[in-house]
Amino acid sequence: MTSSAPEIRTICCIGAGYVGGPTMAVIADRCPQIRVTVVDLNEVRIAAWNAADLSKLPVYEPGLDAVVGRCRGRNLFFTTAVEESIAGADMVFLSVNTPTKTKGLGAGQASDLRWVEASARQVAACAQGHTIVVEKSTLPVRTAETVKAILSAAQGSVEGSHGKTFSVLSNPEFLAEGTAIGDLEQPDRVLIGGEAPAAIEALAAIYANWVPADRILRTNLWSSELSKLTANAFLAQRISSINSIAAFCEATGADVQEVARAIGSDSRIGSKFLKAGPGFGGSCFQKDILNLVYLCGHYGLHEVAAYWQSVVELNTWQQHRIARLVVNRLFGTVTGKRVALLGFAFKADTNDTREAPAIRIARDLLEEGAQLAIYDPKVSTAQMTSDLGRQPAASQQKQAADLSGEGSWLACGSVAEAVHGADAAVILTEWQEFRGLPWQELAAQMRQPAWLFDARAVADVEAVRQAGLRLWRVGDGQQG
Ligand code: UDX
Ligand code: UDX
Repeated sequence: MTSSAPEIRTICCIGAGYVGGPTMAVIADRCPQIRVTVVDLNEVRIAAWNAADLSKLPVYEPGLDAVVGRCRGRNLFFTTAVEESIAGADMVFLSVNTPTKTKGLGAGQASDLRWVEASARQVAACAQGHTIVVEKSTLPVRTAETVKAILSAAQGSVEGSHGKTFSVLSNPEFLAEGTAIGDLEQPDRVLIGGEAPAAIEALAAIYANWVPADRILRTNLWSSELSKLTANAFLAQRISSINSIAAFCEATGADVQEVARAIGSDSRIGSKFLKAGPGFGGSCFQKDILNLVYLCGHYGLHEVAAYWQSVVELNTWQQHRIARLVVNRLFGTVTGKRVALLGFAFKADTNDTREAPAIRIARDLLEEGAQLAIYDPKVSTAQMTSDLGRQPAASQQKQAADLSGEGSWLACGSVAEAVHGADAAVILTEWQEFRGLPWQELAAQMRQPAWLFDARAVADVEAVRQAGLRLWRVGDGQQG
């Protein structure tokens, strides 16, 4: 740390979500000298972060329970006391959600910044002395200007402000859910964008407790904000690219897994993020690309906007395509048929369902009249109810007896329960337990001829075939 950088003793993070919670837990773990308080408006969420039983934390993330168990009550605190926590903090992280706007200017594309703005106003009102404000949420480029404008209005102008001053930094988080703890403990890089060198160095000094110096990158504010959007856009683009090729493989007899291996061994392309599947989900990719599209449009770069828009369109198409092909293979109709959906989370090792491909695919199948039996090891029935926008069937018996032709769904406690009496199983999340399923036993419980639709290409092909199931596997042109 340079001599001018203030030493940070207290941190407050606004937003105890999938990003704020794990990030602050790791900072507290690696910096026992810093008191870290995570605040949230949502009392239920805070209560869950304080649950004595660490398996009840609101975010399921492998390894998170151990980190929280080590630090909570020592130098890591979860509370709804937002104002006090801000007042006592040397550094405030903004980690509130920034969903796509659903109405008004930029609806469907622009990010809704009302929570960021509200948080900035809260910081402006409650902070004392010098406070470094760090944007952790993914934000549209130049959001820091808004945050700065709000903070500078408070700077020195409020009665009794006692020389209240602020510095604003952008420090986007690159963790992926499911591997958040490893990503935080050993990041490829930490990005700090800012103007004031002292503030930048104060934050860099925190990360220096566990991140090698050459992995801490410093940029200007705007580069930092745009780097996060660009990283997500590039990652998502790879998935749409491989999914487009998967469809082409299915049409031509090639196998996308072989193609991915072949192209991925070119070191310029690289082997990661080339798994074909039911399309990307998660809270970031779609939202960030739409935001990029909106910003490009705003600056008159219409061709650039259309280019990135196509990445999202391909993703949506892939999800509808999978639902359509399930219907087609089941003799053109799923009305009244039991279809088991294996996996609902947007990827393995998380309970997060935001933008999960399962939602769109389930909705399409419900529209077609299917009776869905959904199993996910970590997603609650309440979450599925909210995502599907309709209540589950009262019981399996009631569901089966319903001859109205209306789609219905219910949550199951195991794979075996979900596939019982089903015409098809559809794997939508790559949970480890779906890799070694006893297909012989399961197939015996299904209505024949039964199908397995493996949208993640995780099932053991031999075992599935030996069980006499018909198989469709994403991107495999040799089968089905
Ligand atoms: C993150 C990032 O912060 C977001 O920008 C990114 O692009 C998506 O992921 P995440 O932590 O996943 O957000 O969001 P979420 O789990 O919704 O958590 C945000 C929390 O902030 C919620 O618990 C919400 O209650 C809280 N919040 C929101 C506040 O405490 N105050 C507010 O004013 C608004
Ligand atoms: C992503 C970025 O990876 C992370 O850096 C950023 O901070 C937040 O957004 P996340 O959405 O949590 O992280 O998970 P990620 O592993 O990127 O997966 C996103 C989606 O892409 C998932 O639905 C996943 O199943 C899908 N995916 C990923 C594929 O379909 N194929 C792949 O090869 C990789």
